[in-house]
Amino acid sequence: MTVLEAREVVSGYGEVEILHEVSIRVEEEEIVTIIGPNGAGKSTLLKTVFGLLPCKRGRVVFDGEDVTGQSPQVMVRKGMSYVPQSDNVFPTLTVQENLEMGAFIRRDNYRPKMEEVLALFPDVLERRHTRAGKLSGGQRQMLALARALMLEPRILLLDEPSASLAPNMVELVFAKILDINRSGVAIIMVEQNARESLKLSHRGYVLAMGQNRLEGSGESLLESEEVGKTYLGG
Ligand SMILES: Nc1ncnc2c1ncn2[C@@H]1O[C@H](COP(=O)(O)OP(=O)(O)O)[C@@H](O)[C@H]1O
Ligand SMILES: [Mg+2]
Repeated sequence: MTVLEAREVVSGYGEVEILHEVSIRVEEEEIVTIIGPNGAGKSTLLKTVFGLLPCKRGRVVFDGEDVTGQSPQVMVRKGMSYVPQSDNVFPTLTVQENLEMGAFIRRDNYRPKMEEVLALFPDVLERRHTRAGKLSGGQRQMLALARALMLEPRILLLDEPSASLAPNMVELVFAKILDINRSGVAIIMVEQNARESLKLSHRGYVLAMGQNRLEGSGESLLESEEVGKTYLGG
């Protein structure tokens, strides 16, 4: 079953059109990666799907329901969680307070979920009373993932989760993404670490100049000549 679909989405900033009829879909239990050059419109696509930018034409369909033009708050309630590339934690709040903020629309007792989420990230768990601003880049990224899980989403939208992390941290973040996926959460992520992310992805898309350029299984994209030359360093 398809969890999330963008159908011929046209979007941009003010009068400027960035996405020209871009289509993507994410099936249940999939990890899907979007790669493409800087400025291709990858972040714009995630922001449009999540309702942060108006969708000028085309549709966004979540769980079979047309959610085009709905606000991020509505998307969150429906089970979408979005982690932006930067500023994705509250630096002056502690780790635990960040997780509590992540649970803000829960009416039930969120504590069991918080302990469960913290158990996934032992490094973050140890620092639950530390201010998020004091964490390393990798720990902060883990916290952002943890926070996104507090509402038990069906799908996570991740914008460059491994950006500017040391190689061992990149590996760890990807391992966590795989764990999260295996717990039943679909993932769509934008990544610059194309090789590593395609390796763990069921499918992928290449966007270029605001358009769909290529799509296929993670494996087939890794083997594609164009992807190899342009995005995997030859
Ligand atoms: N807030 C903004 N206002 C105006 N133009 C923007 C804004 N953010 C991004 N853009 C432009 O939109 C295009 C696509 O950007 P983006 O989606 O961030 O690309 P990517 O994530 O693929 O690197 C770029 O040309 C960029 O300059
Ligand atoms: Mg981007």
